[in-house]
Amino acid sequence: MAMLPLALLLAGAGADVHSLGNPEAVRPTHLALDLTLRFESRTIAGAAELTLEDAARPPAPHLDLDTRDLKVARVSDAATGRALEFALGEPVPHLGRRLRVTLGSPRPRRVRIEYETSPGASALQWLEPRQTTSGRMPFLFTQSQAIHARSWIPCMDSPAVRTTYEAVVRAPAGMTAVMSAAHLGHEPAQGVFRFRMDHPIPAYLIALAAGEIGFKALSLRTGVYAEPAVLEKAAWEFADVEKMVQANERLYGPYRWERWDTIVLPPSFPYGGMENPRLTFATPTLIAGDRSLTSTMAHELAHSWSGNLVTNATWGDFWLNEGFTTYIENRLVEELYGREVAEMEVLLGQRELREFVSDPQTKPGDTRLFIDLAGRDPDDGSNVLPYEKGASFLRVLEARFGRPRLDRFLRQYFDAHAFRSMTTAGFLEILKRDLFGGDAAAWKAAGVEQWVYGEGIPDTLVVPPSARFDKARAAAAAFAATGAVDGVRPDWTTTERLGFLNSLPRALTRAQLDALDRSFRFSQSGNAEILFAWLLHAVRNTYEPAFPSLERFLTGMGRRKFLRPLYRAMHENPQTQALARRIYDRARPTYHPIAVATVDEILGVRGPAGG
Ligand code: BES
Ligand code: ZN
Repeated sequence: MAMLPLALLLAGAGADVHSLGNPEAVRPTHLALDLTLRFESRTIAGAAELTLEDAARPPAPHLDLDTRDLKVARVSDAATGRALEFALGEPVPHLGRRLRVTLGSPRPRRVRIEYETSPGASALQWLEPRQTTSGRMPFLFTQSQAIHARSWIPCMDSPAVRTTYEAVVRAPAGMTAVMSAAHLGHEPAQGVFRFRMDHPIPAYLIALAAGEIGFKALSLRTGVYAEPAVLEKAAWEFADVEKMVQANERLYGPYRWERWDTIVLPPSFPYGGMENPRLTFATPTLIAGDRSLTSTMAHELAHSWSGNLVTNATWGDFWLNEGFTTYIENRLVEELYGREVAEMEVLLGQRELREFVSDPQTKPGDTRLFIDLAGRDPDDGSNVLPYEKGASFLRVLEARFGRPRLDRFLRQYFDAHAFRSMTTAGFLEILKRDLFGGDAAAWKAAGVEQWVYGEGIPDTLVVPPSARFDKARAAAAAFAATGAVDGVRPDWTTTERLGFLNSLPRALTRAQLDALDRSFRFSQSGNAEILFAWLLHAVRNTYEPAFPSLERFLTGMGRRKFLRPLYRAMHENPQTQALARRIYDRARPTYHPIAVATVDEILGVRGPAGG
């Protein structure tokens, strides 16, 4: 193998189609933020100072940044205060507007941008006090992945561009602010908080939350933040997180971010979890009361290696983040809860993958691991495929080389490329060299390129055996055939219950649904995953007795993973379309802008035009 291509590939030569920045010409290395949170106007008044390094010779005339819906008031040389010329470009669909700063001479080393966000900023959700648990204070949180950082910070919003950052956050007195950074100190009476992230990270990992927030330590380096009313329950639910960190360290080397805290956000948080460094953001729907949904925590932790240390260079390389993380998540589940549980979770994931691949609405091109997202919103690409096909590919490698060798390879990969971004082609070169030892025949036999660049699910898929999952499947088949529910055991875990529910046929009769709900009270389930799986059956089969529960669920939380399939199923069933509109009318004002965009598209609602 030649040396040159690898070096080139690792340099991330391919441009990021989702950024309007010019990192090839000039590189920001540090970002200093001063943010004033203004709840009355739902805006942040900000100053961002970017420290620059010339990447090109001769030095670039311009600095190009990403923005979306930002009002830029002034740009200056931070050292001298001298004003710099700037211009906002025309809005580009999905991307926002380029901010072009003329650097001039003498060249500023730090560029200061004074700006204001808009009330519709796509990263931000501003909650009224009544949308929080205690109802005492308003709440704000951000969601920057994939390309929403630009709606609250002018920056090079590409996962291939990393900076360290520091921030001063000015919140109303009495409020607590937290960020994905070390907490340096605060003056609560003034509402001033200071943060610092000394490891270089991409903009999508910059995160902020502010509101009435308490903290409880779980171990020396882990803890949980939440609204006070949720704190105790959250601490109980997440009691295993220190064990998770230790398991992850045993497998893939030291945890590099010093602390791992989690903040449980209000229910409108649009994701299950978001791996913001040092501070995972989590949905309260993980709090099932029995620790049965903590694999999501294992997932977000695993991103501290796959994603946050070694980062997908573009959103088309997203599987490098999510596929690796899903694989590691499952290894952690095995370490903590045993092989049987882990294997059942693999099978649940593979079922979702098969459903996605065989869904007539899925474009064949979207069943590739490495995908072309040019001209598309990268949030469109966040479906199950990069997660489960990516993890399945690593399991193929595991079967071929054995765990010890794959683990050694992965650990070395994380070490060698820590705090850098990685392309799919770059990863494949490393894989060929370090795991396959350049053996072209083995490479071919493993079908690597077919897995990564081909469509569908290659037949080398490794399907683990699982006696317990077989029983759940058999119980579903027996129920479908005879209506007998005695195959369902009272001691089944959440995973087995999900295996059962997901193995039921799509078409169920009213009598069958009645029998299920009578026996298992699915409509009343306090477990969000089980409730979701049940409600999907209810919608597809127009099972009206479950509709009050459906409405409660959809107006009570805003997690995209649950909203998308439920609204889609309601929209596809002519008998539930009106219900979908009625529920959404009520729920829309309570959802995060990212969830609103998703559901607007499903139901064909025209929202306020975005940049
Ligand atoms: N990083 C993702 C969430 C994400 C992906 C946000 C793409 C924005 C764009 C996070 O790690 C994640 O995958 N969350 C999952 C849970 C996980 C257990 C599969 C979720 O939110 O459901
Ligand atoms: Zn993830």
